[in-house]
Amino acid sequence: MRSIFYVTTPIYYVNDNPHIGHAYTTILADVLARYHRNEGDEVFFLTGLDEHGQKVQQAAQKRGVPEQQHCDELAPRFSNLWKKLEIQNDDFIRTTEPRHVKAVQAALQKVYDAGDVYVDEYEGWYSVAEERFITDTEKDSGHFRDVKRLKERNYFFKMSKYQERLIDHINAHPGFIQPEHRRNEILGFLRQPLGDLCISRPKARMNWGIEIPFDKDYVTYVWFDALINYITVPGYVDDPKKFKKWWPASIHLIGKDILTTHAVYWPTMLFSLGLPLPKTIFAHGWWLIGETKMSKSLGNVIDPLSLVDQYGVDPVRYYLMREMVLGQDANFTMESFIKRYNSDLANDFGNLLNRVSGLIGKYFNSCVPKEGKAGAAEQPIHDAADGLAKKIEELINAMRVHEALEQVLVLIRNTNVYMEHQAPWKEAKTNLDRAGTILYTATEALRISAILLLPVIPAKAQTVLEILGASGTEPEWGKLKAGTKLKSHAALFPRLDAEGKVITKT
Ligand code: ME8
Ligand code: MG
Repeated sequence: MRSIFYVTTPIYYVNDNPHIGHAYTTILADVLARYHRNEGDEVFFLTGLDEHGQKVQQAAQKRGVPEQQHCDELAPRFSNLWKKLEIQNDDFIRTTEPRHVKAVQAALQKVYDAGDVYVDEYEGWYSVAEERFITDTEKDSGHFRDVKRLKERNYFFKMSKYQERLIDHINAHPGFIQPEHRRNEILGFLRQPLGDLCISRPKARMNWGIEIPFDKDYVTYVWFDALINYITVPGYVDDPKKFKKWWPASIHLIGKDILTTHAVYWPTMLFSLGLPLPKTIFAHGWWLIGETKMSKSLGNVIDPLSLVDQYGVDPVRYYLMREMVLGQDANFTMESFIKRYNSDLANDFGNLLNRVSGLIGKYFNSCVPKEGKAGAAEQPIHDAADGLAKKIEELINAMRVHEALEQVLVLIRNTNVYMEHQAPWKEAKTNLDRAGTILYTATEALRISAILLLPVIPAKAQTVLEILGASGTEPEWGKLKAGTKLKSHAALFPRLDAEGKVITKT
């Protein structure tokens, strides 16, 4: 039976252009979705935009345009980037869409009817500059401008009511919050009494949001709004059959910056709504520039568009997936980008293609030779290539994406070494059958490698399969047919110099 795989990314704030951090999570989701599709699973991949709340309102005000216009103008910067990055998402949710407003209001009403919402008056120090309540200690620090005493009536969600149930769920489902150190962080956080969540904003103070169905003077808190997107799209309010099929999500991919909202707010909201919890919440680390997080507010961002324009989409996808150990932070540097590009893509992968196609061109008129009598020298390549798909599937399911890629690269490197040792160019002079066996073996290892790289470098891996005349995408040994005519081609990944410029041979 085909399994169901529903994967989500965070919905990003439309307060600025997307940067490499946003591209990272989205590419990761795309890579998982593609592996699952290739395995025959039924996949739904959702991404989108978080368009309400203060951050977006401020961004619109800064540009001097109405909020909705601001969102409409910025949304294509995200969706166009995803197209450029070969992202195959199945839907793109924007929280200002009517379908989402409907779902959020239905959810608010449901939580209210369940008796999980109460009104309370809160009095405290309010920073106008920060647009939030600050603690006494924060006020005493003197770091906040425009501080005034404010008394505000708001709606609160009884999050505390579900604290024990959440702890039990986390304990009973070890894979619910991943990686494990994030799970421990949340369990630690839950050892303190959990407060209730303020889920309203008086329109008089902040009006860019979804109106609360039981009080028209308020909009809802942006996080209550945003999290609901994960159930809006699979049909929470309007399509029970579709909803039953896709919910709960298989995995919510997020950065560690938004762990609490996903691992505490969201599950308690779902408890109140009477819905099952997502199977996994996976928080990855941050891309850093030097020692600091890349972020829109800090302005130290890498622009994915210019990287793609300069190097193509595949090297960018490959670098991001290979360089970050899932769960840990990683440093983005142009030096490491160029190094990865040259070593893995140009020298290992590209070089293997050049060698087999060059030699098959020279000695076999560009037709794949017969495998013939493979011997002891071929055995390790044959075995490694034939077992690789299974290994990759296990590593991907364990969220060890960088290791999965490394495993493919190990096969490619070993095949290059095998070629050097077996020297088919020498064999060809005395024993053409033997040269054919060596070249078949190397080409078949290359074909299987390309198939297993398809989810990460879809364009170039497809190019390789086309050059090899491979019809299907079966990663099993022996599917490469002798006699197939290879197509001529340019260098797959032209080498880069230290500045990142393409080295052109003269
Ligand atoms: O938090 N490294 O949106 P956001 C890695 N709207 N990933 C990064 C990153 C970095 N330096 N910077 C951003 C929000 N990301 C809310 C989410 S979900 C219901 C609402 C990625 O625009 C990472 O996935 O601030 C992070 O969690 C997300 O972008 C935050 O995007
Ligand atoms: Mg953020």
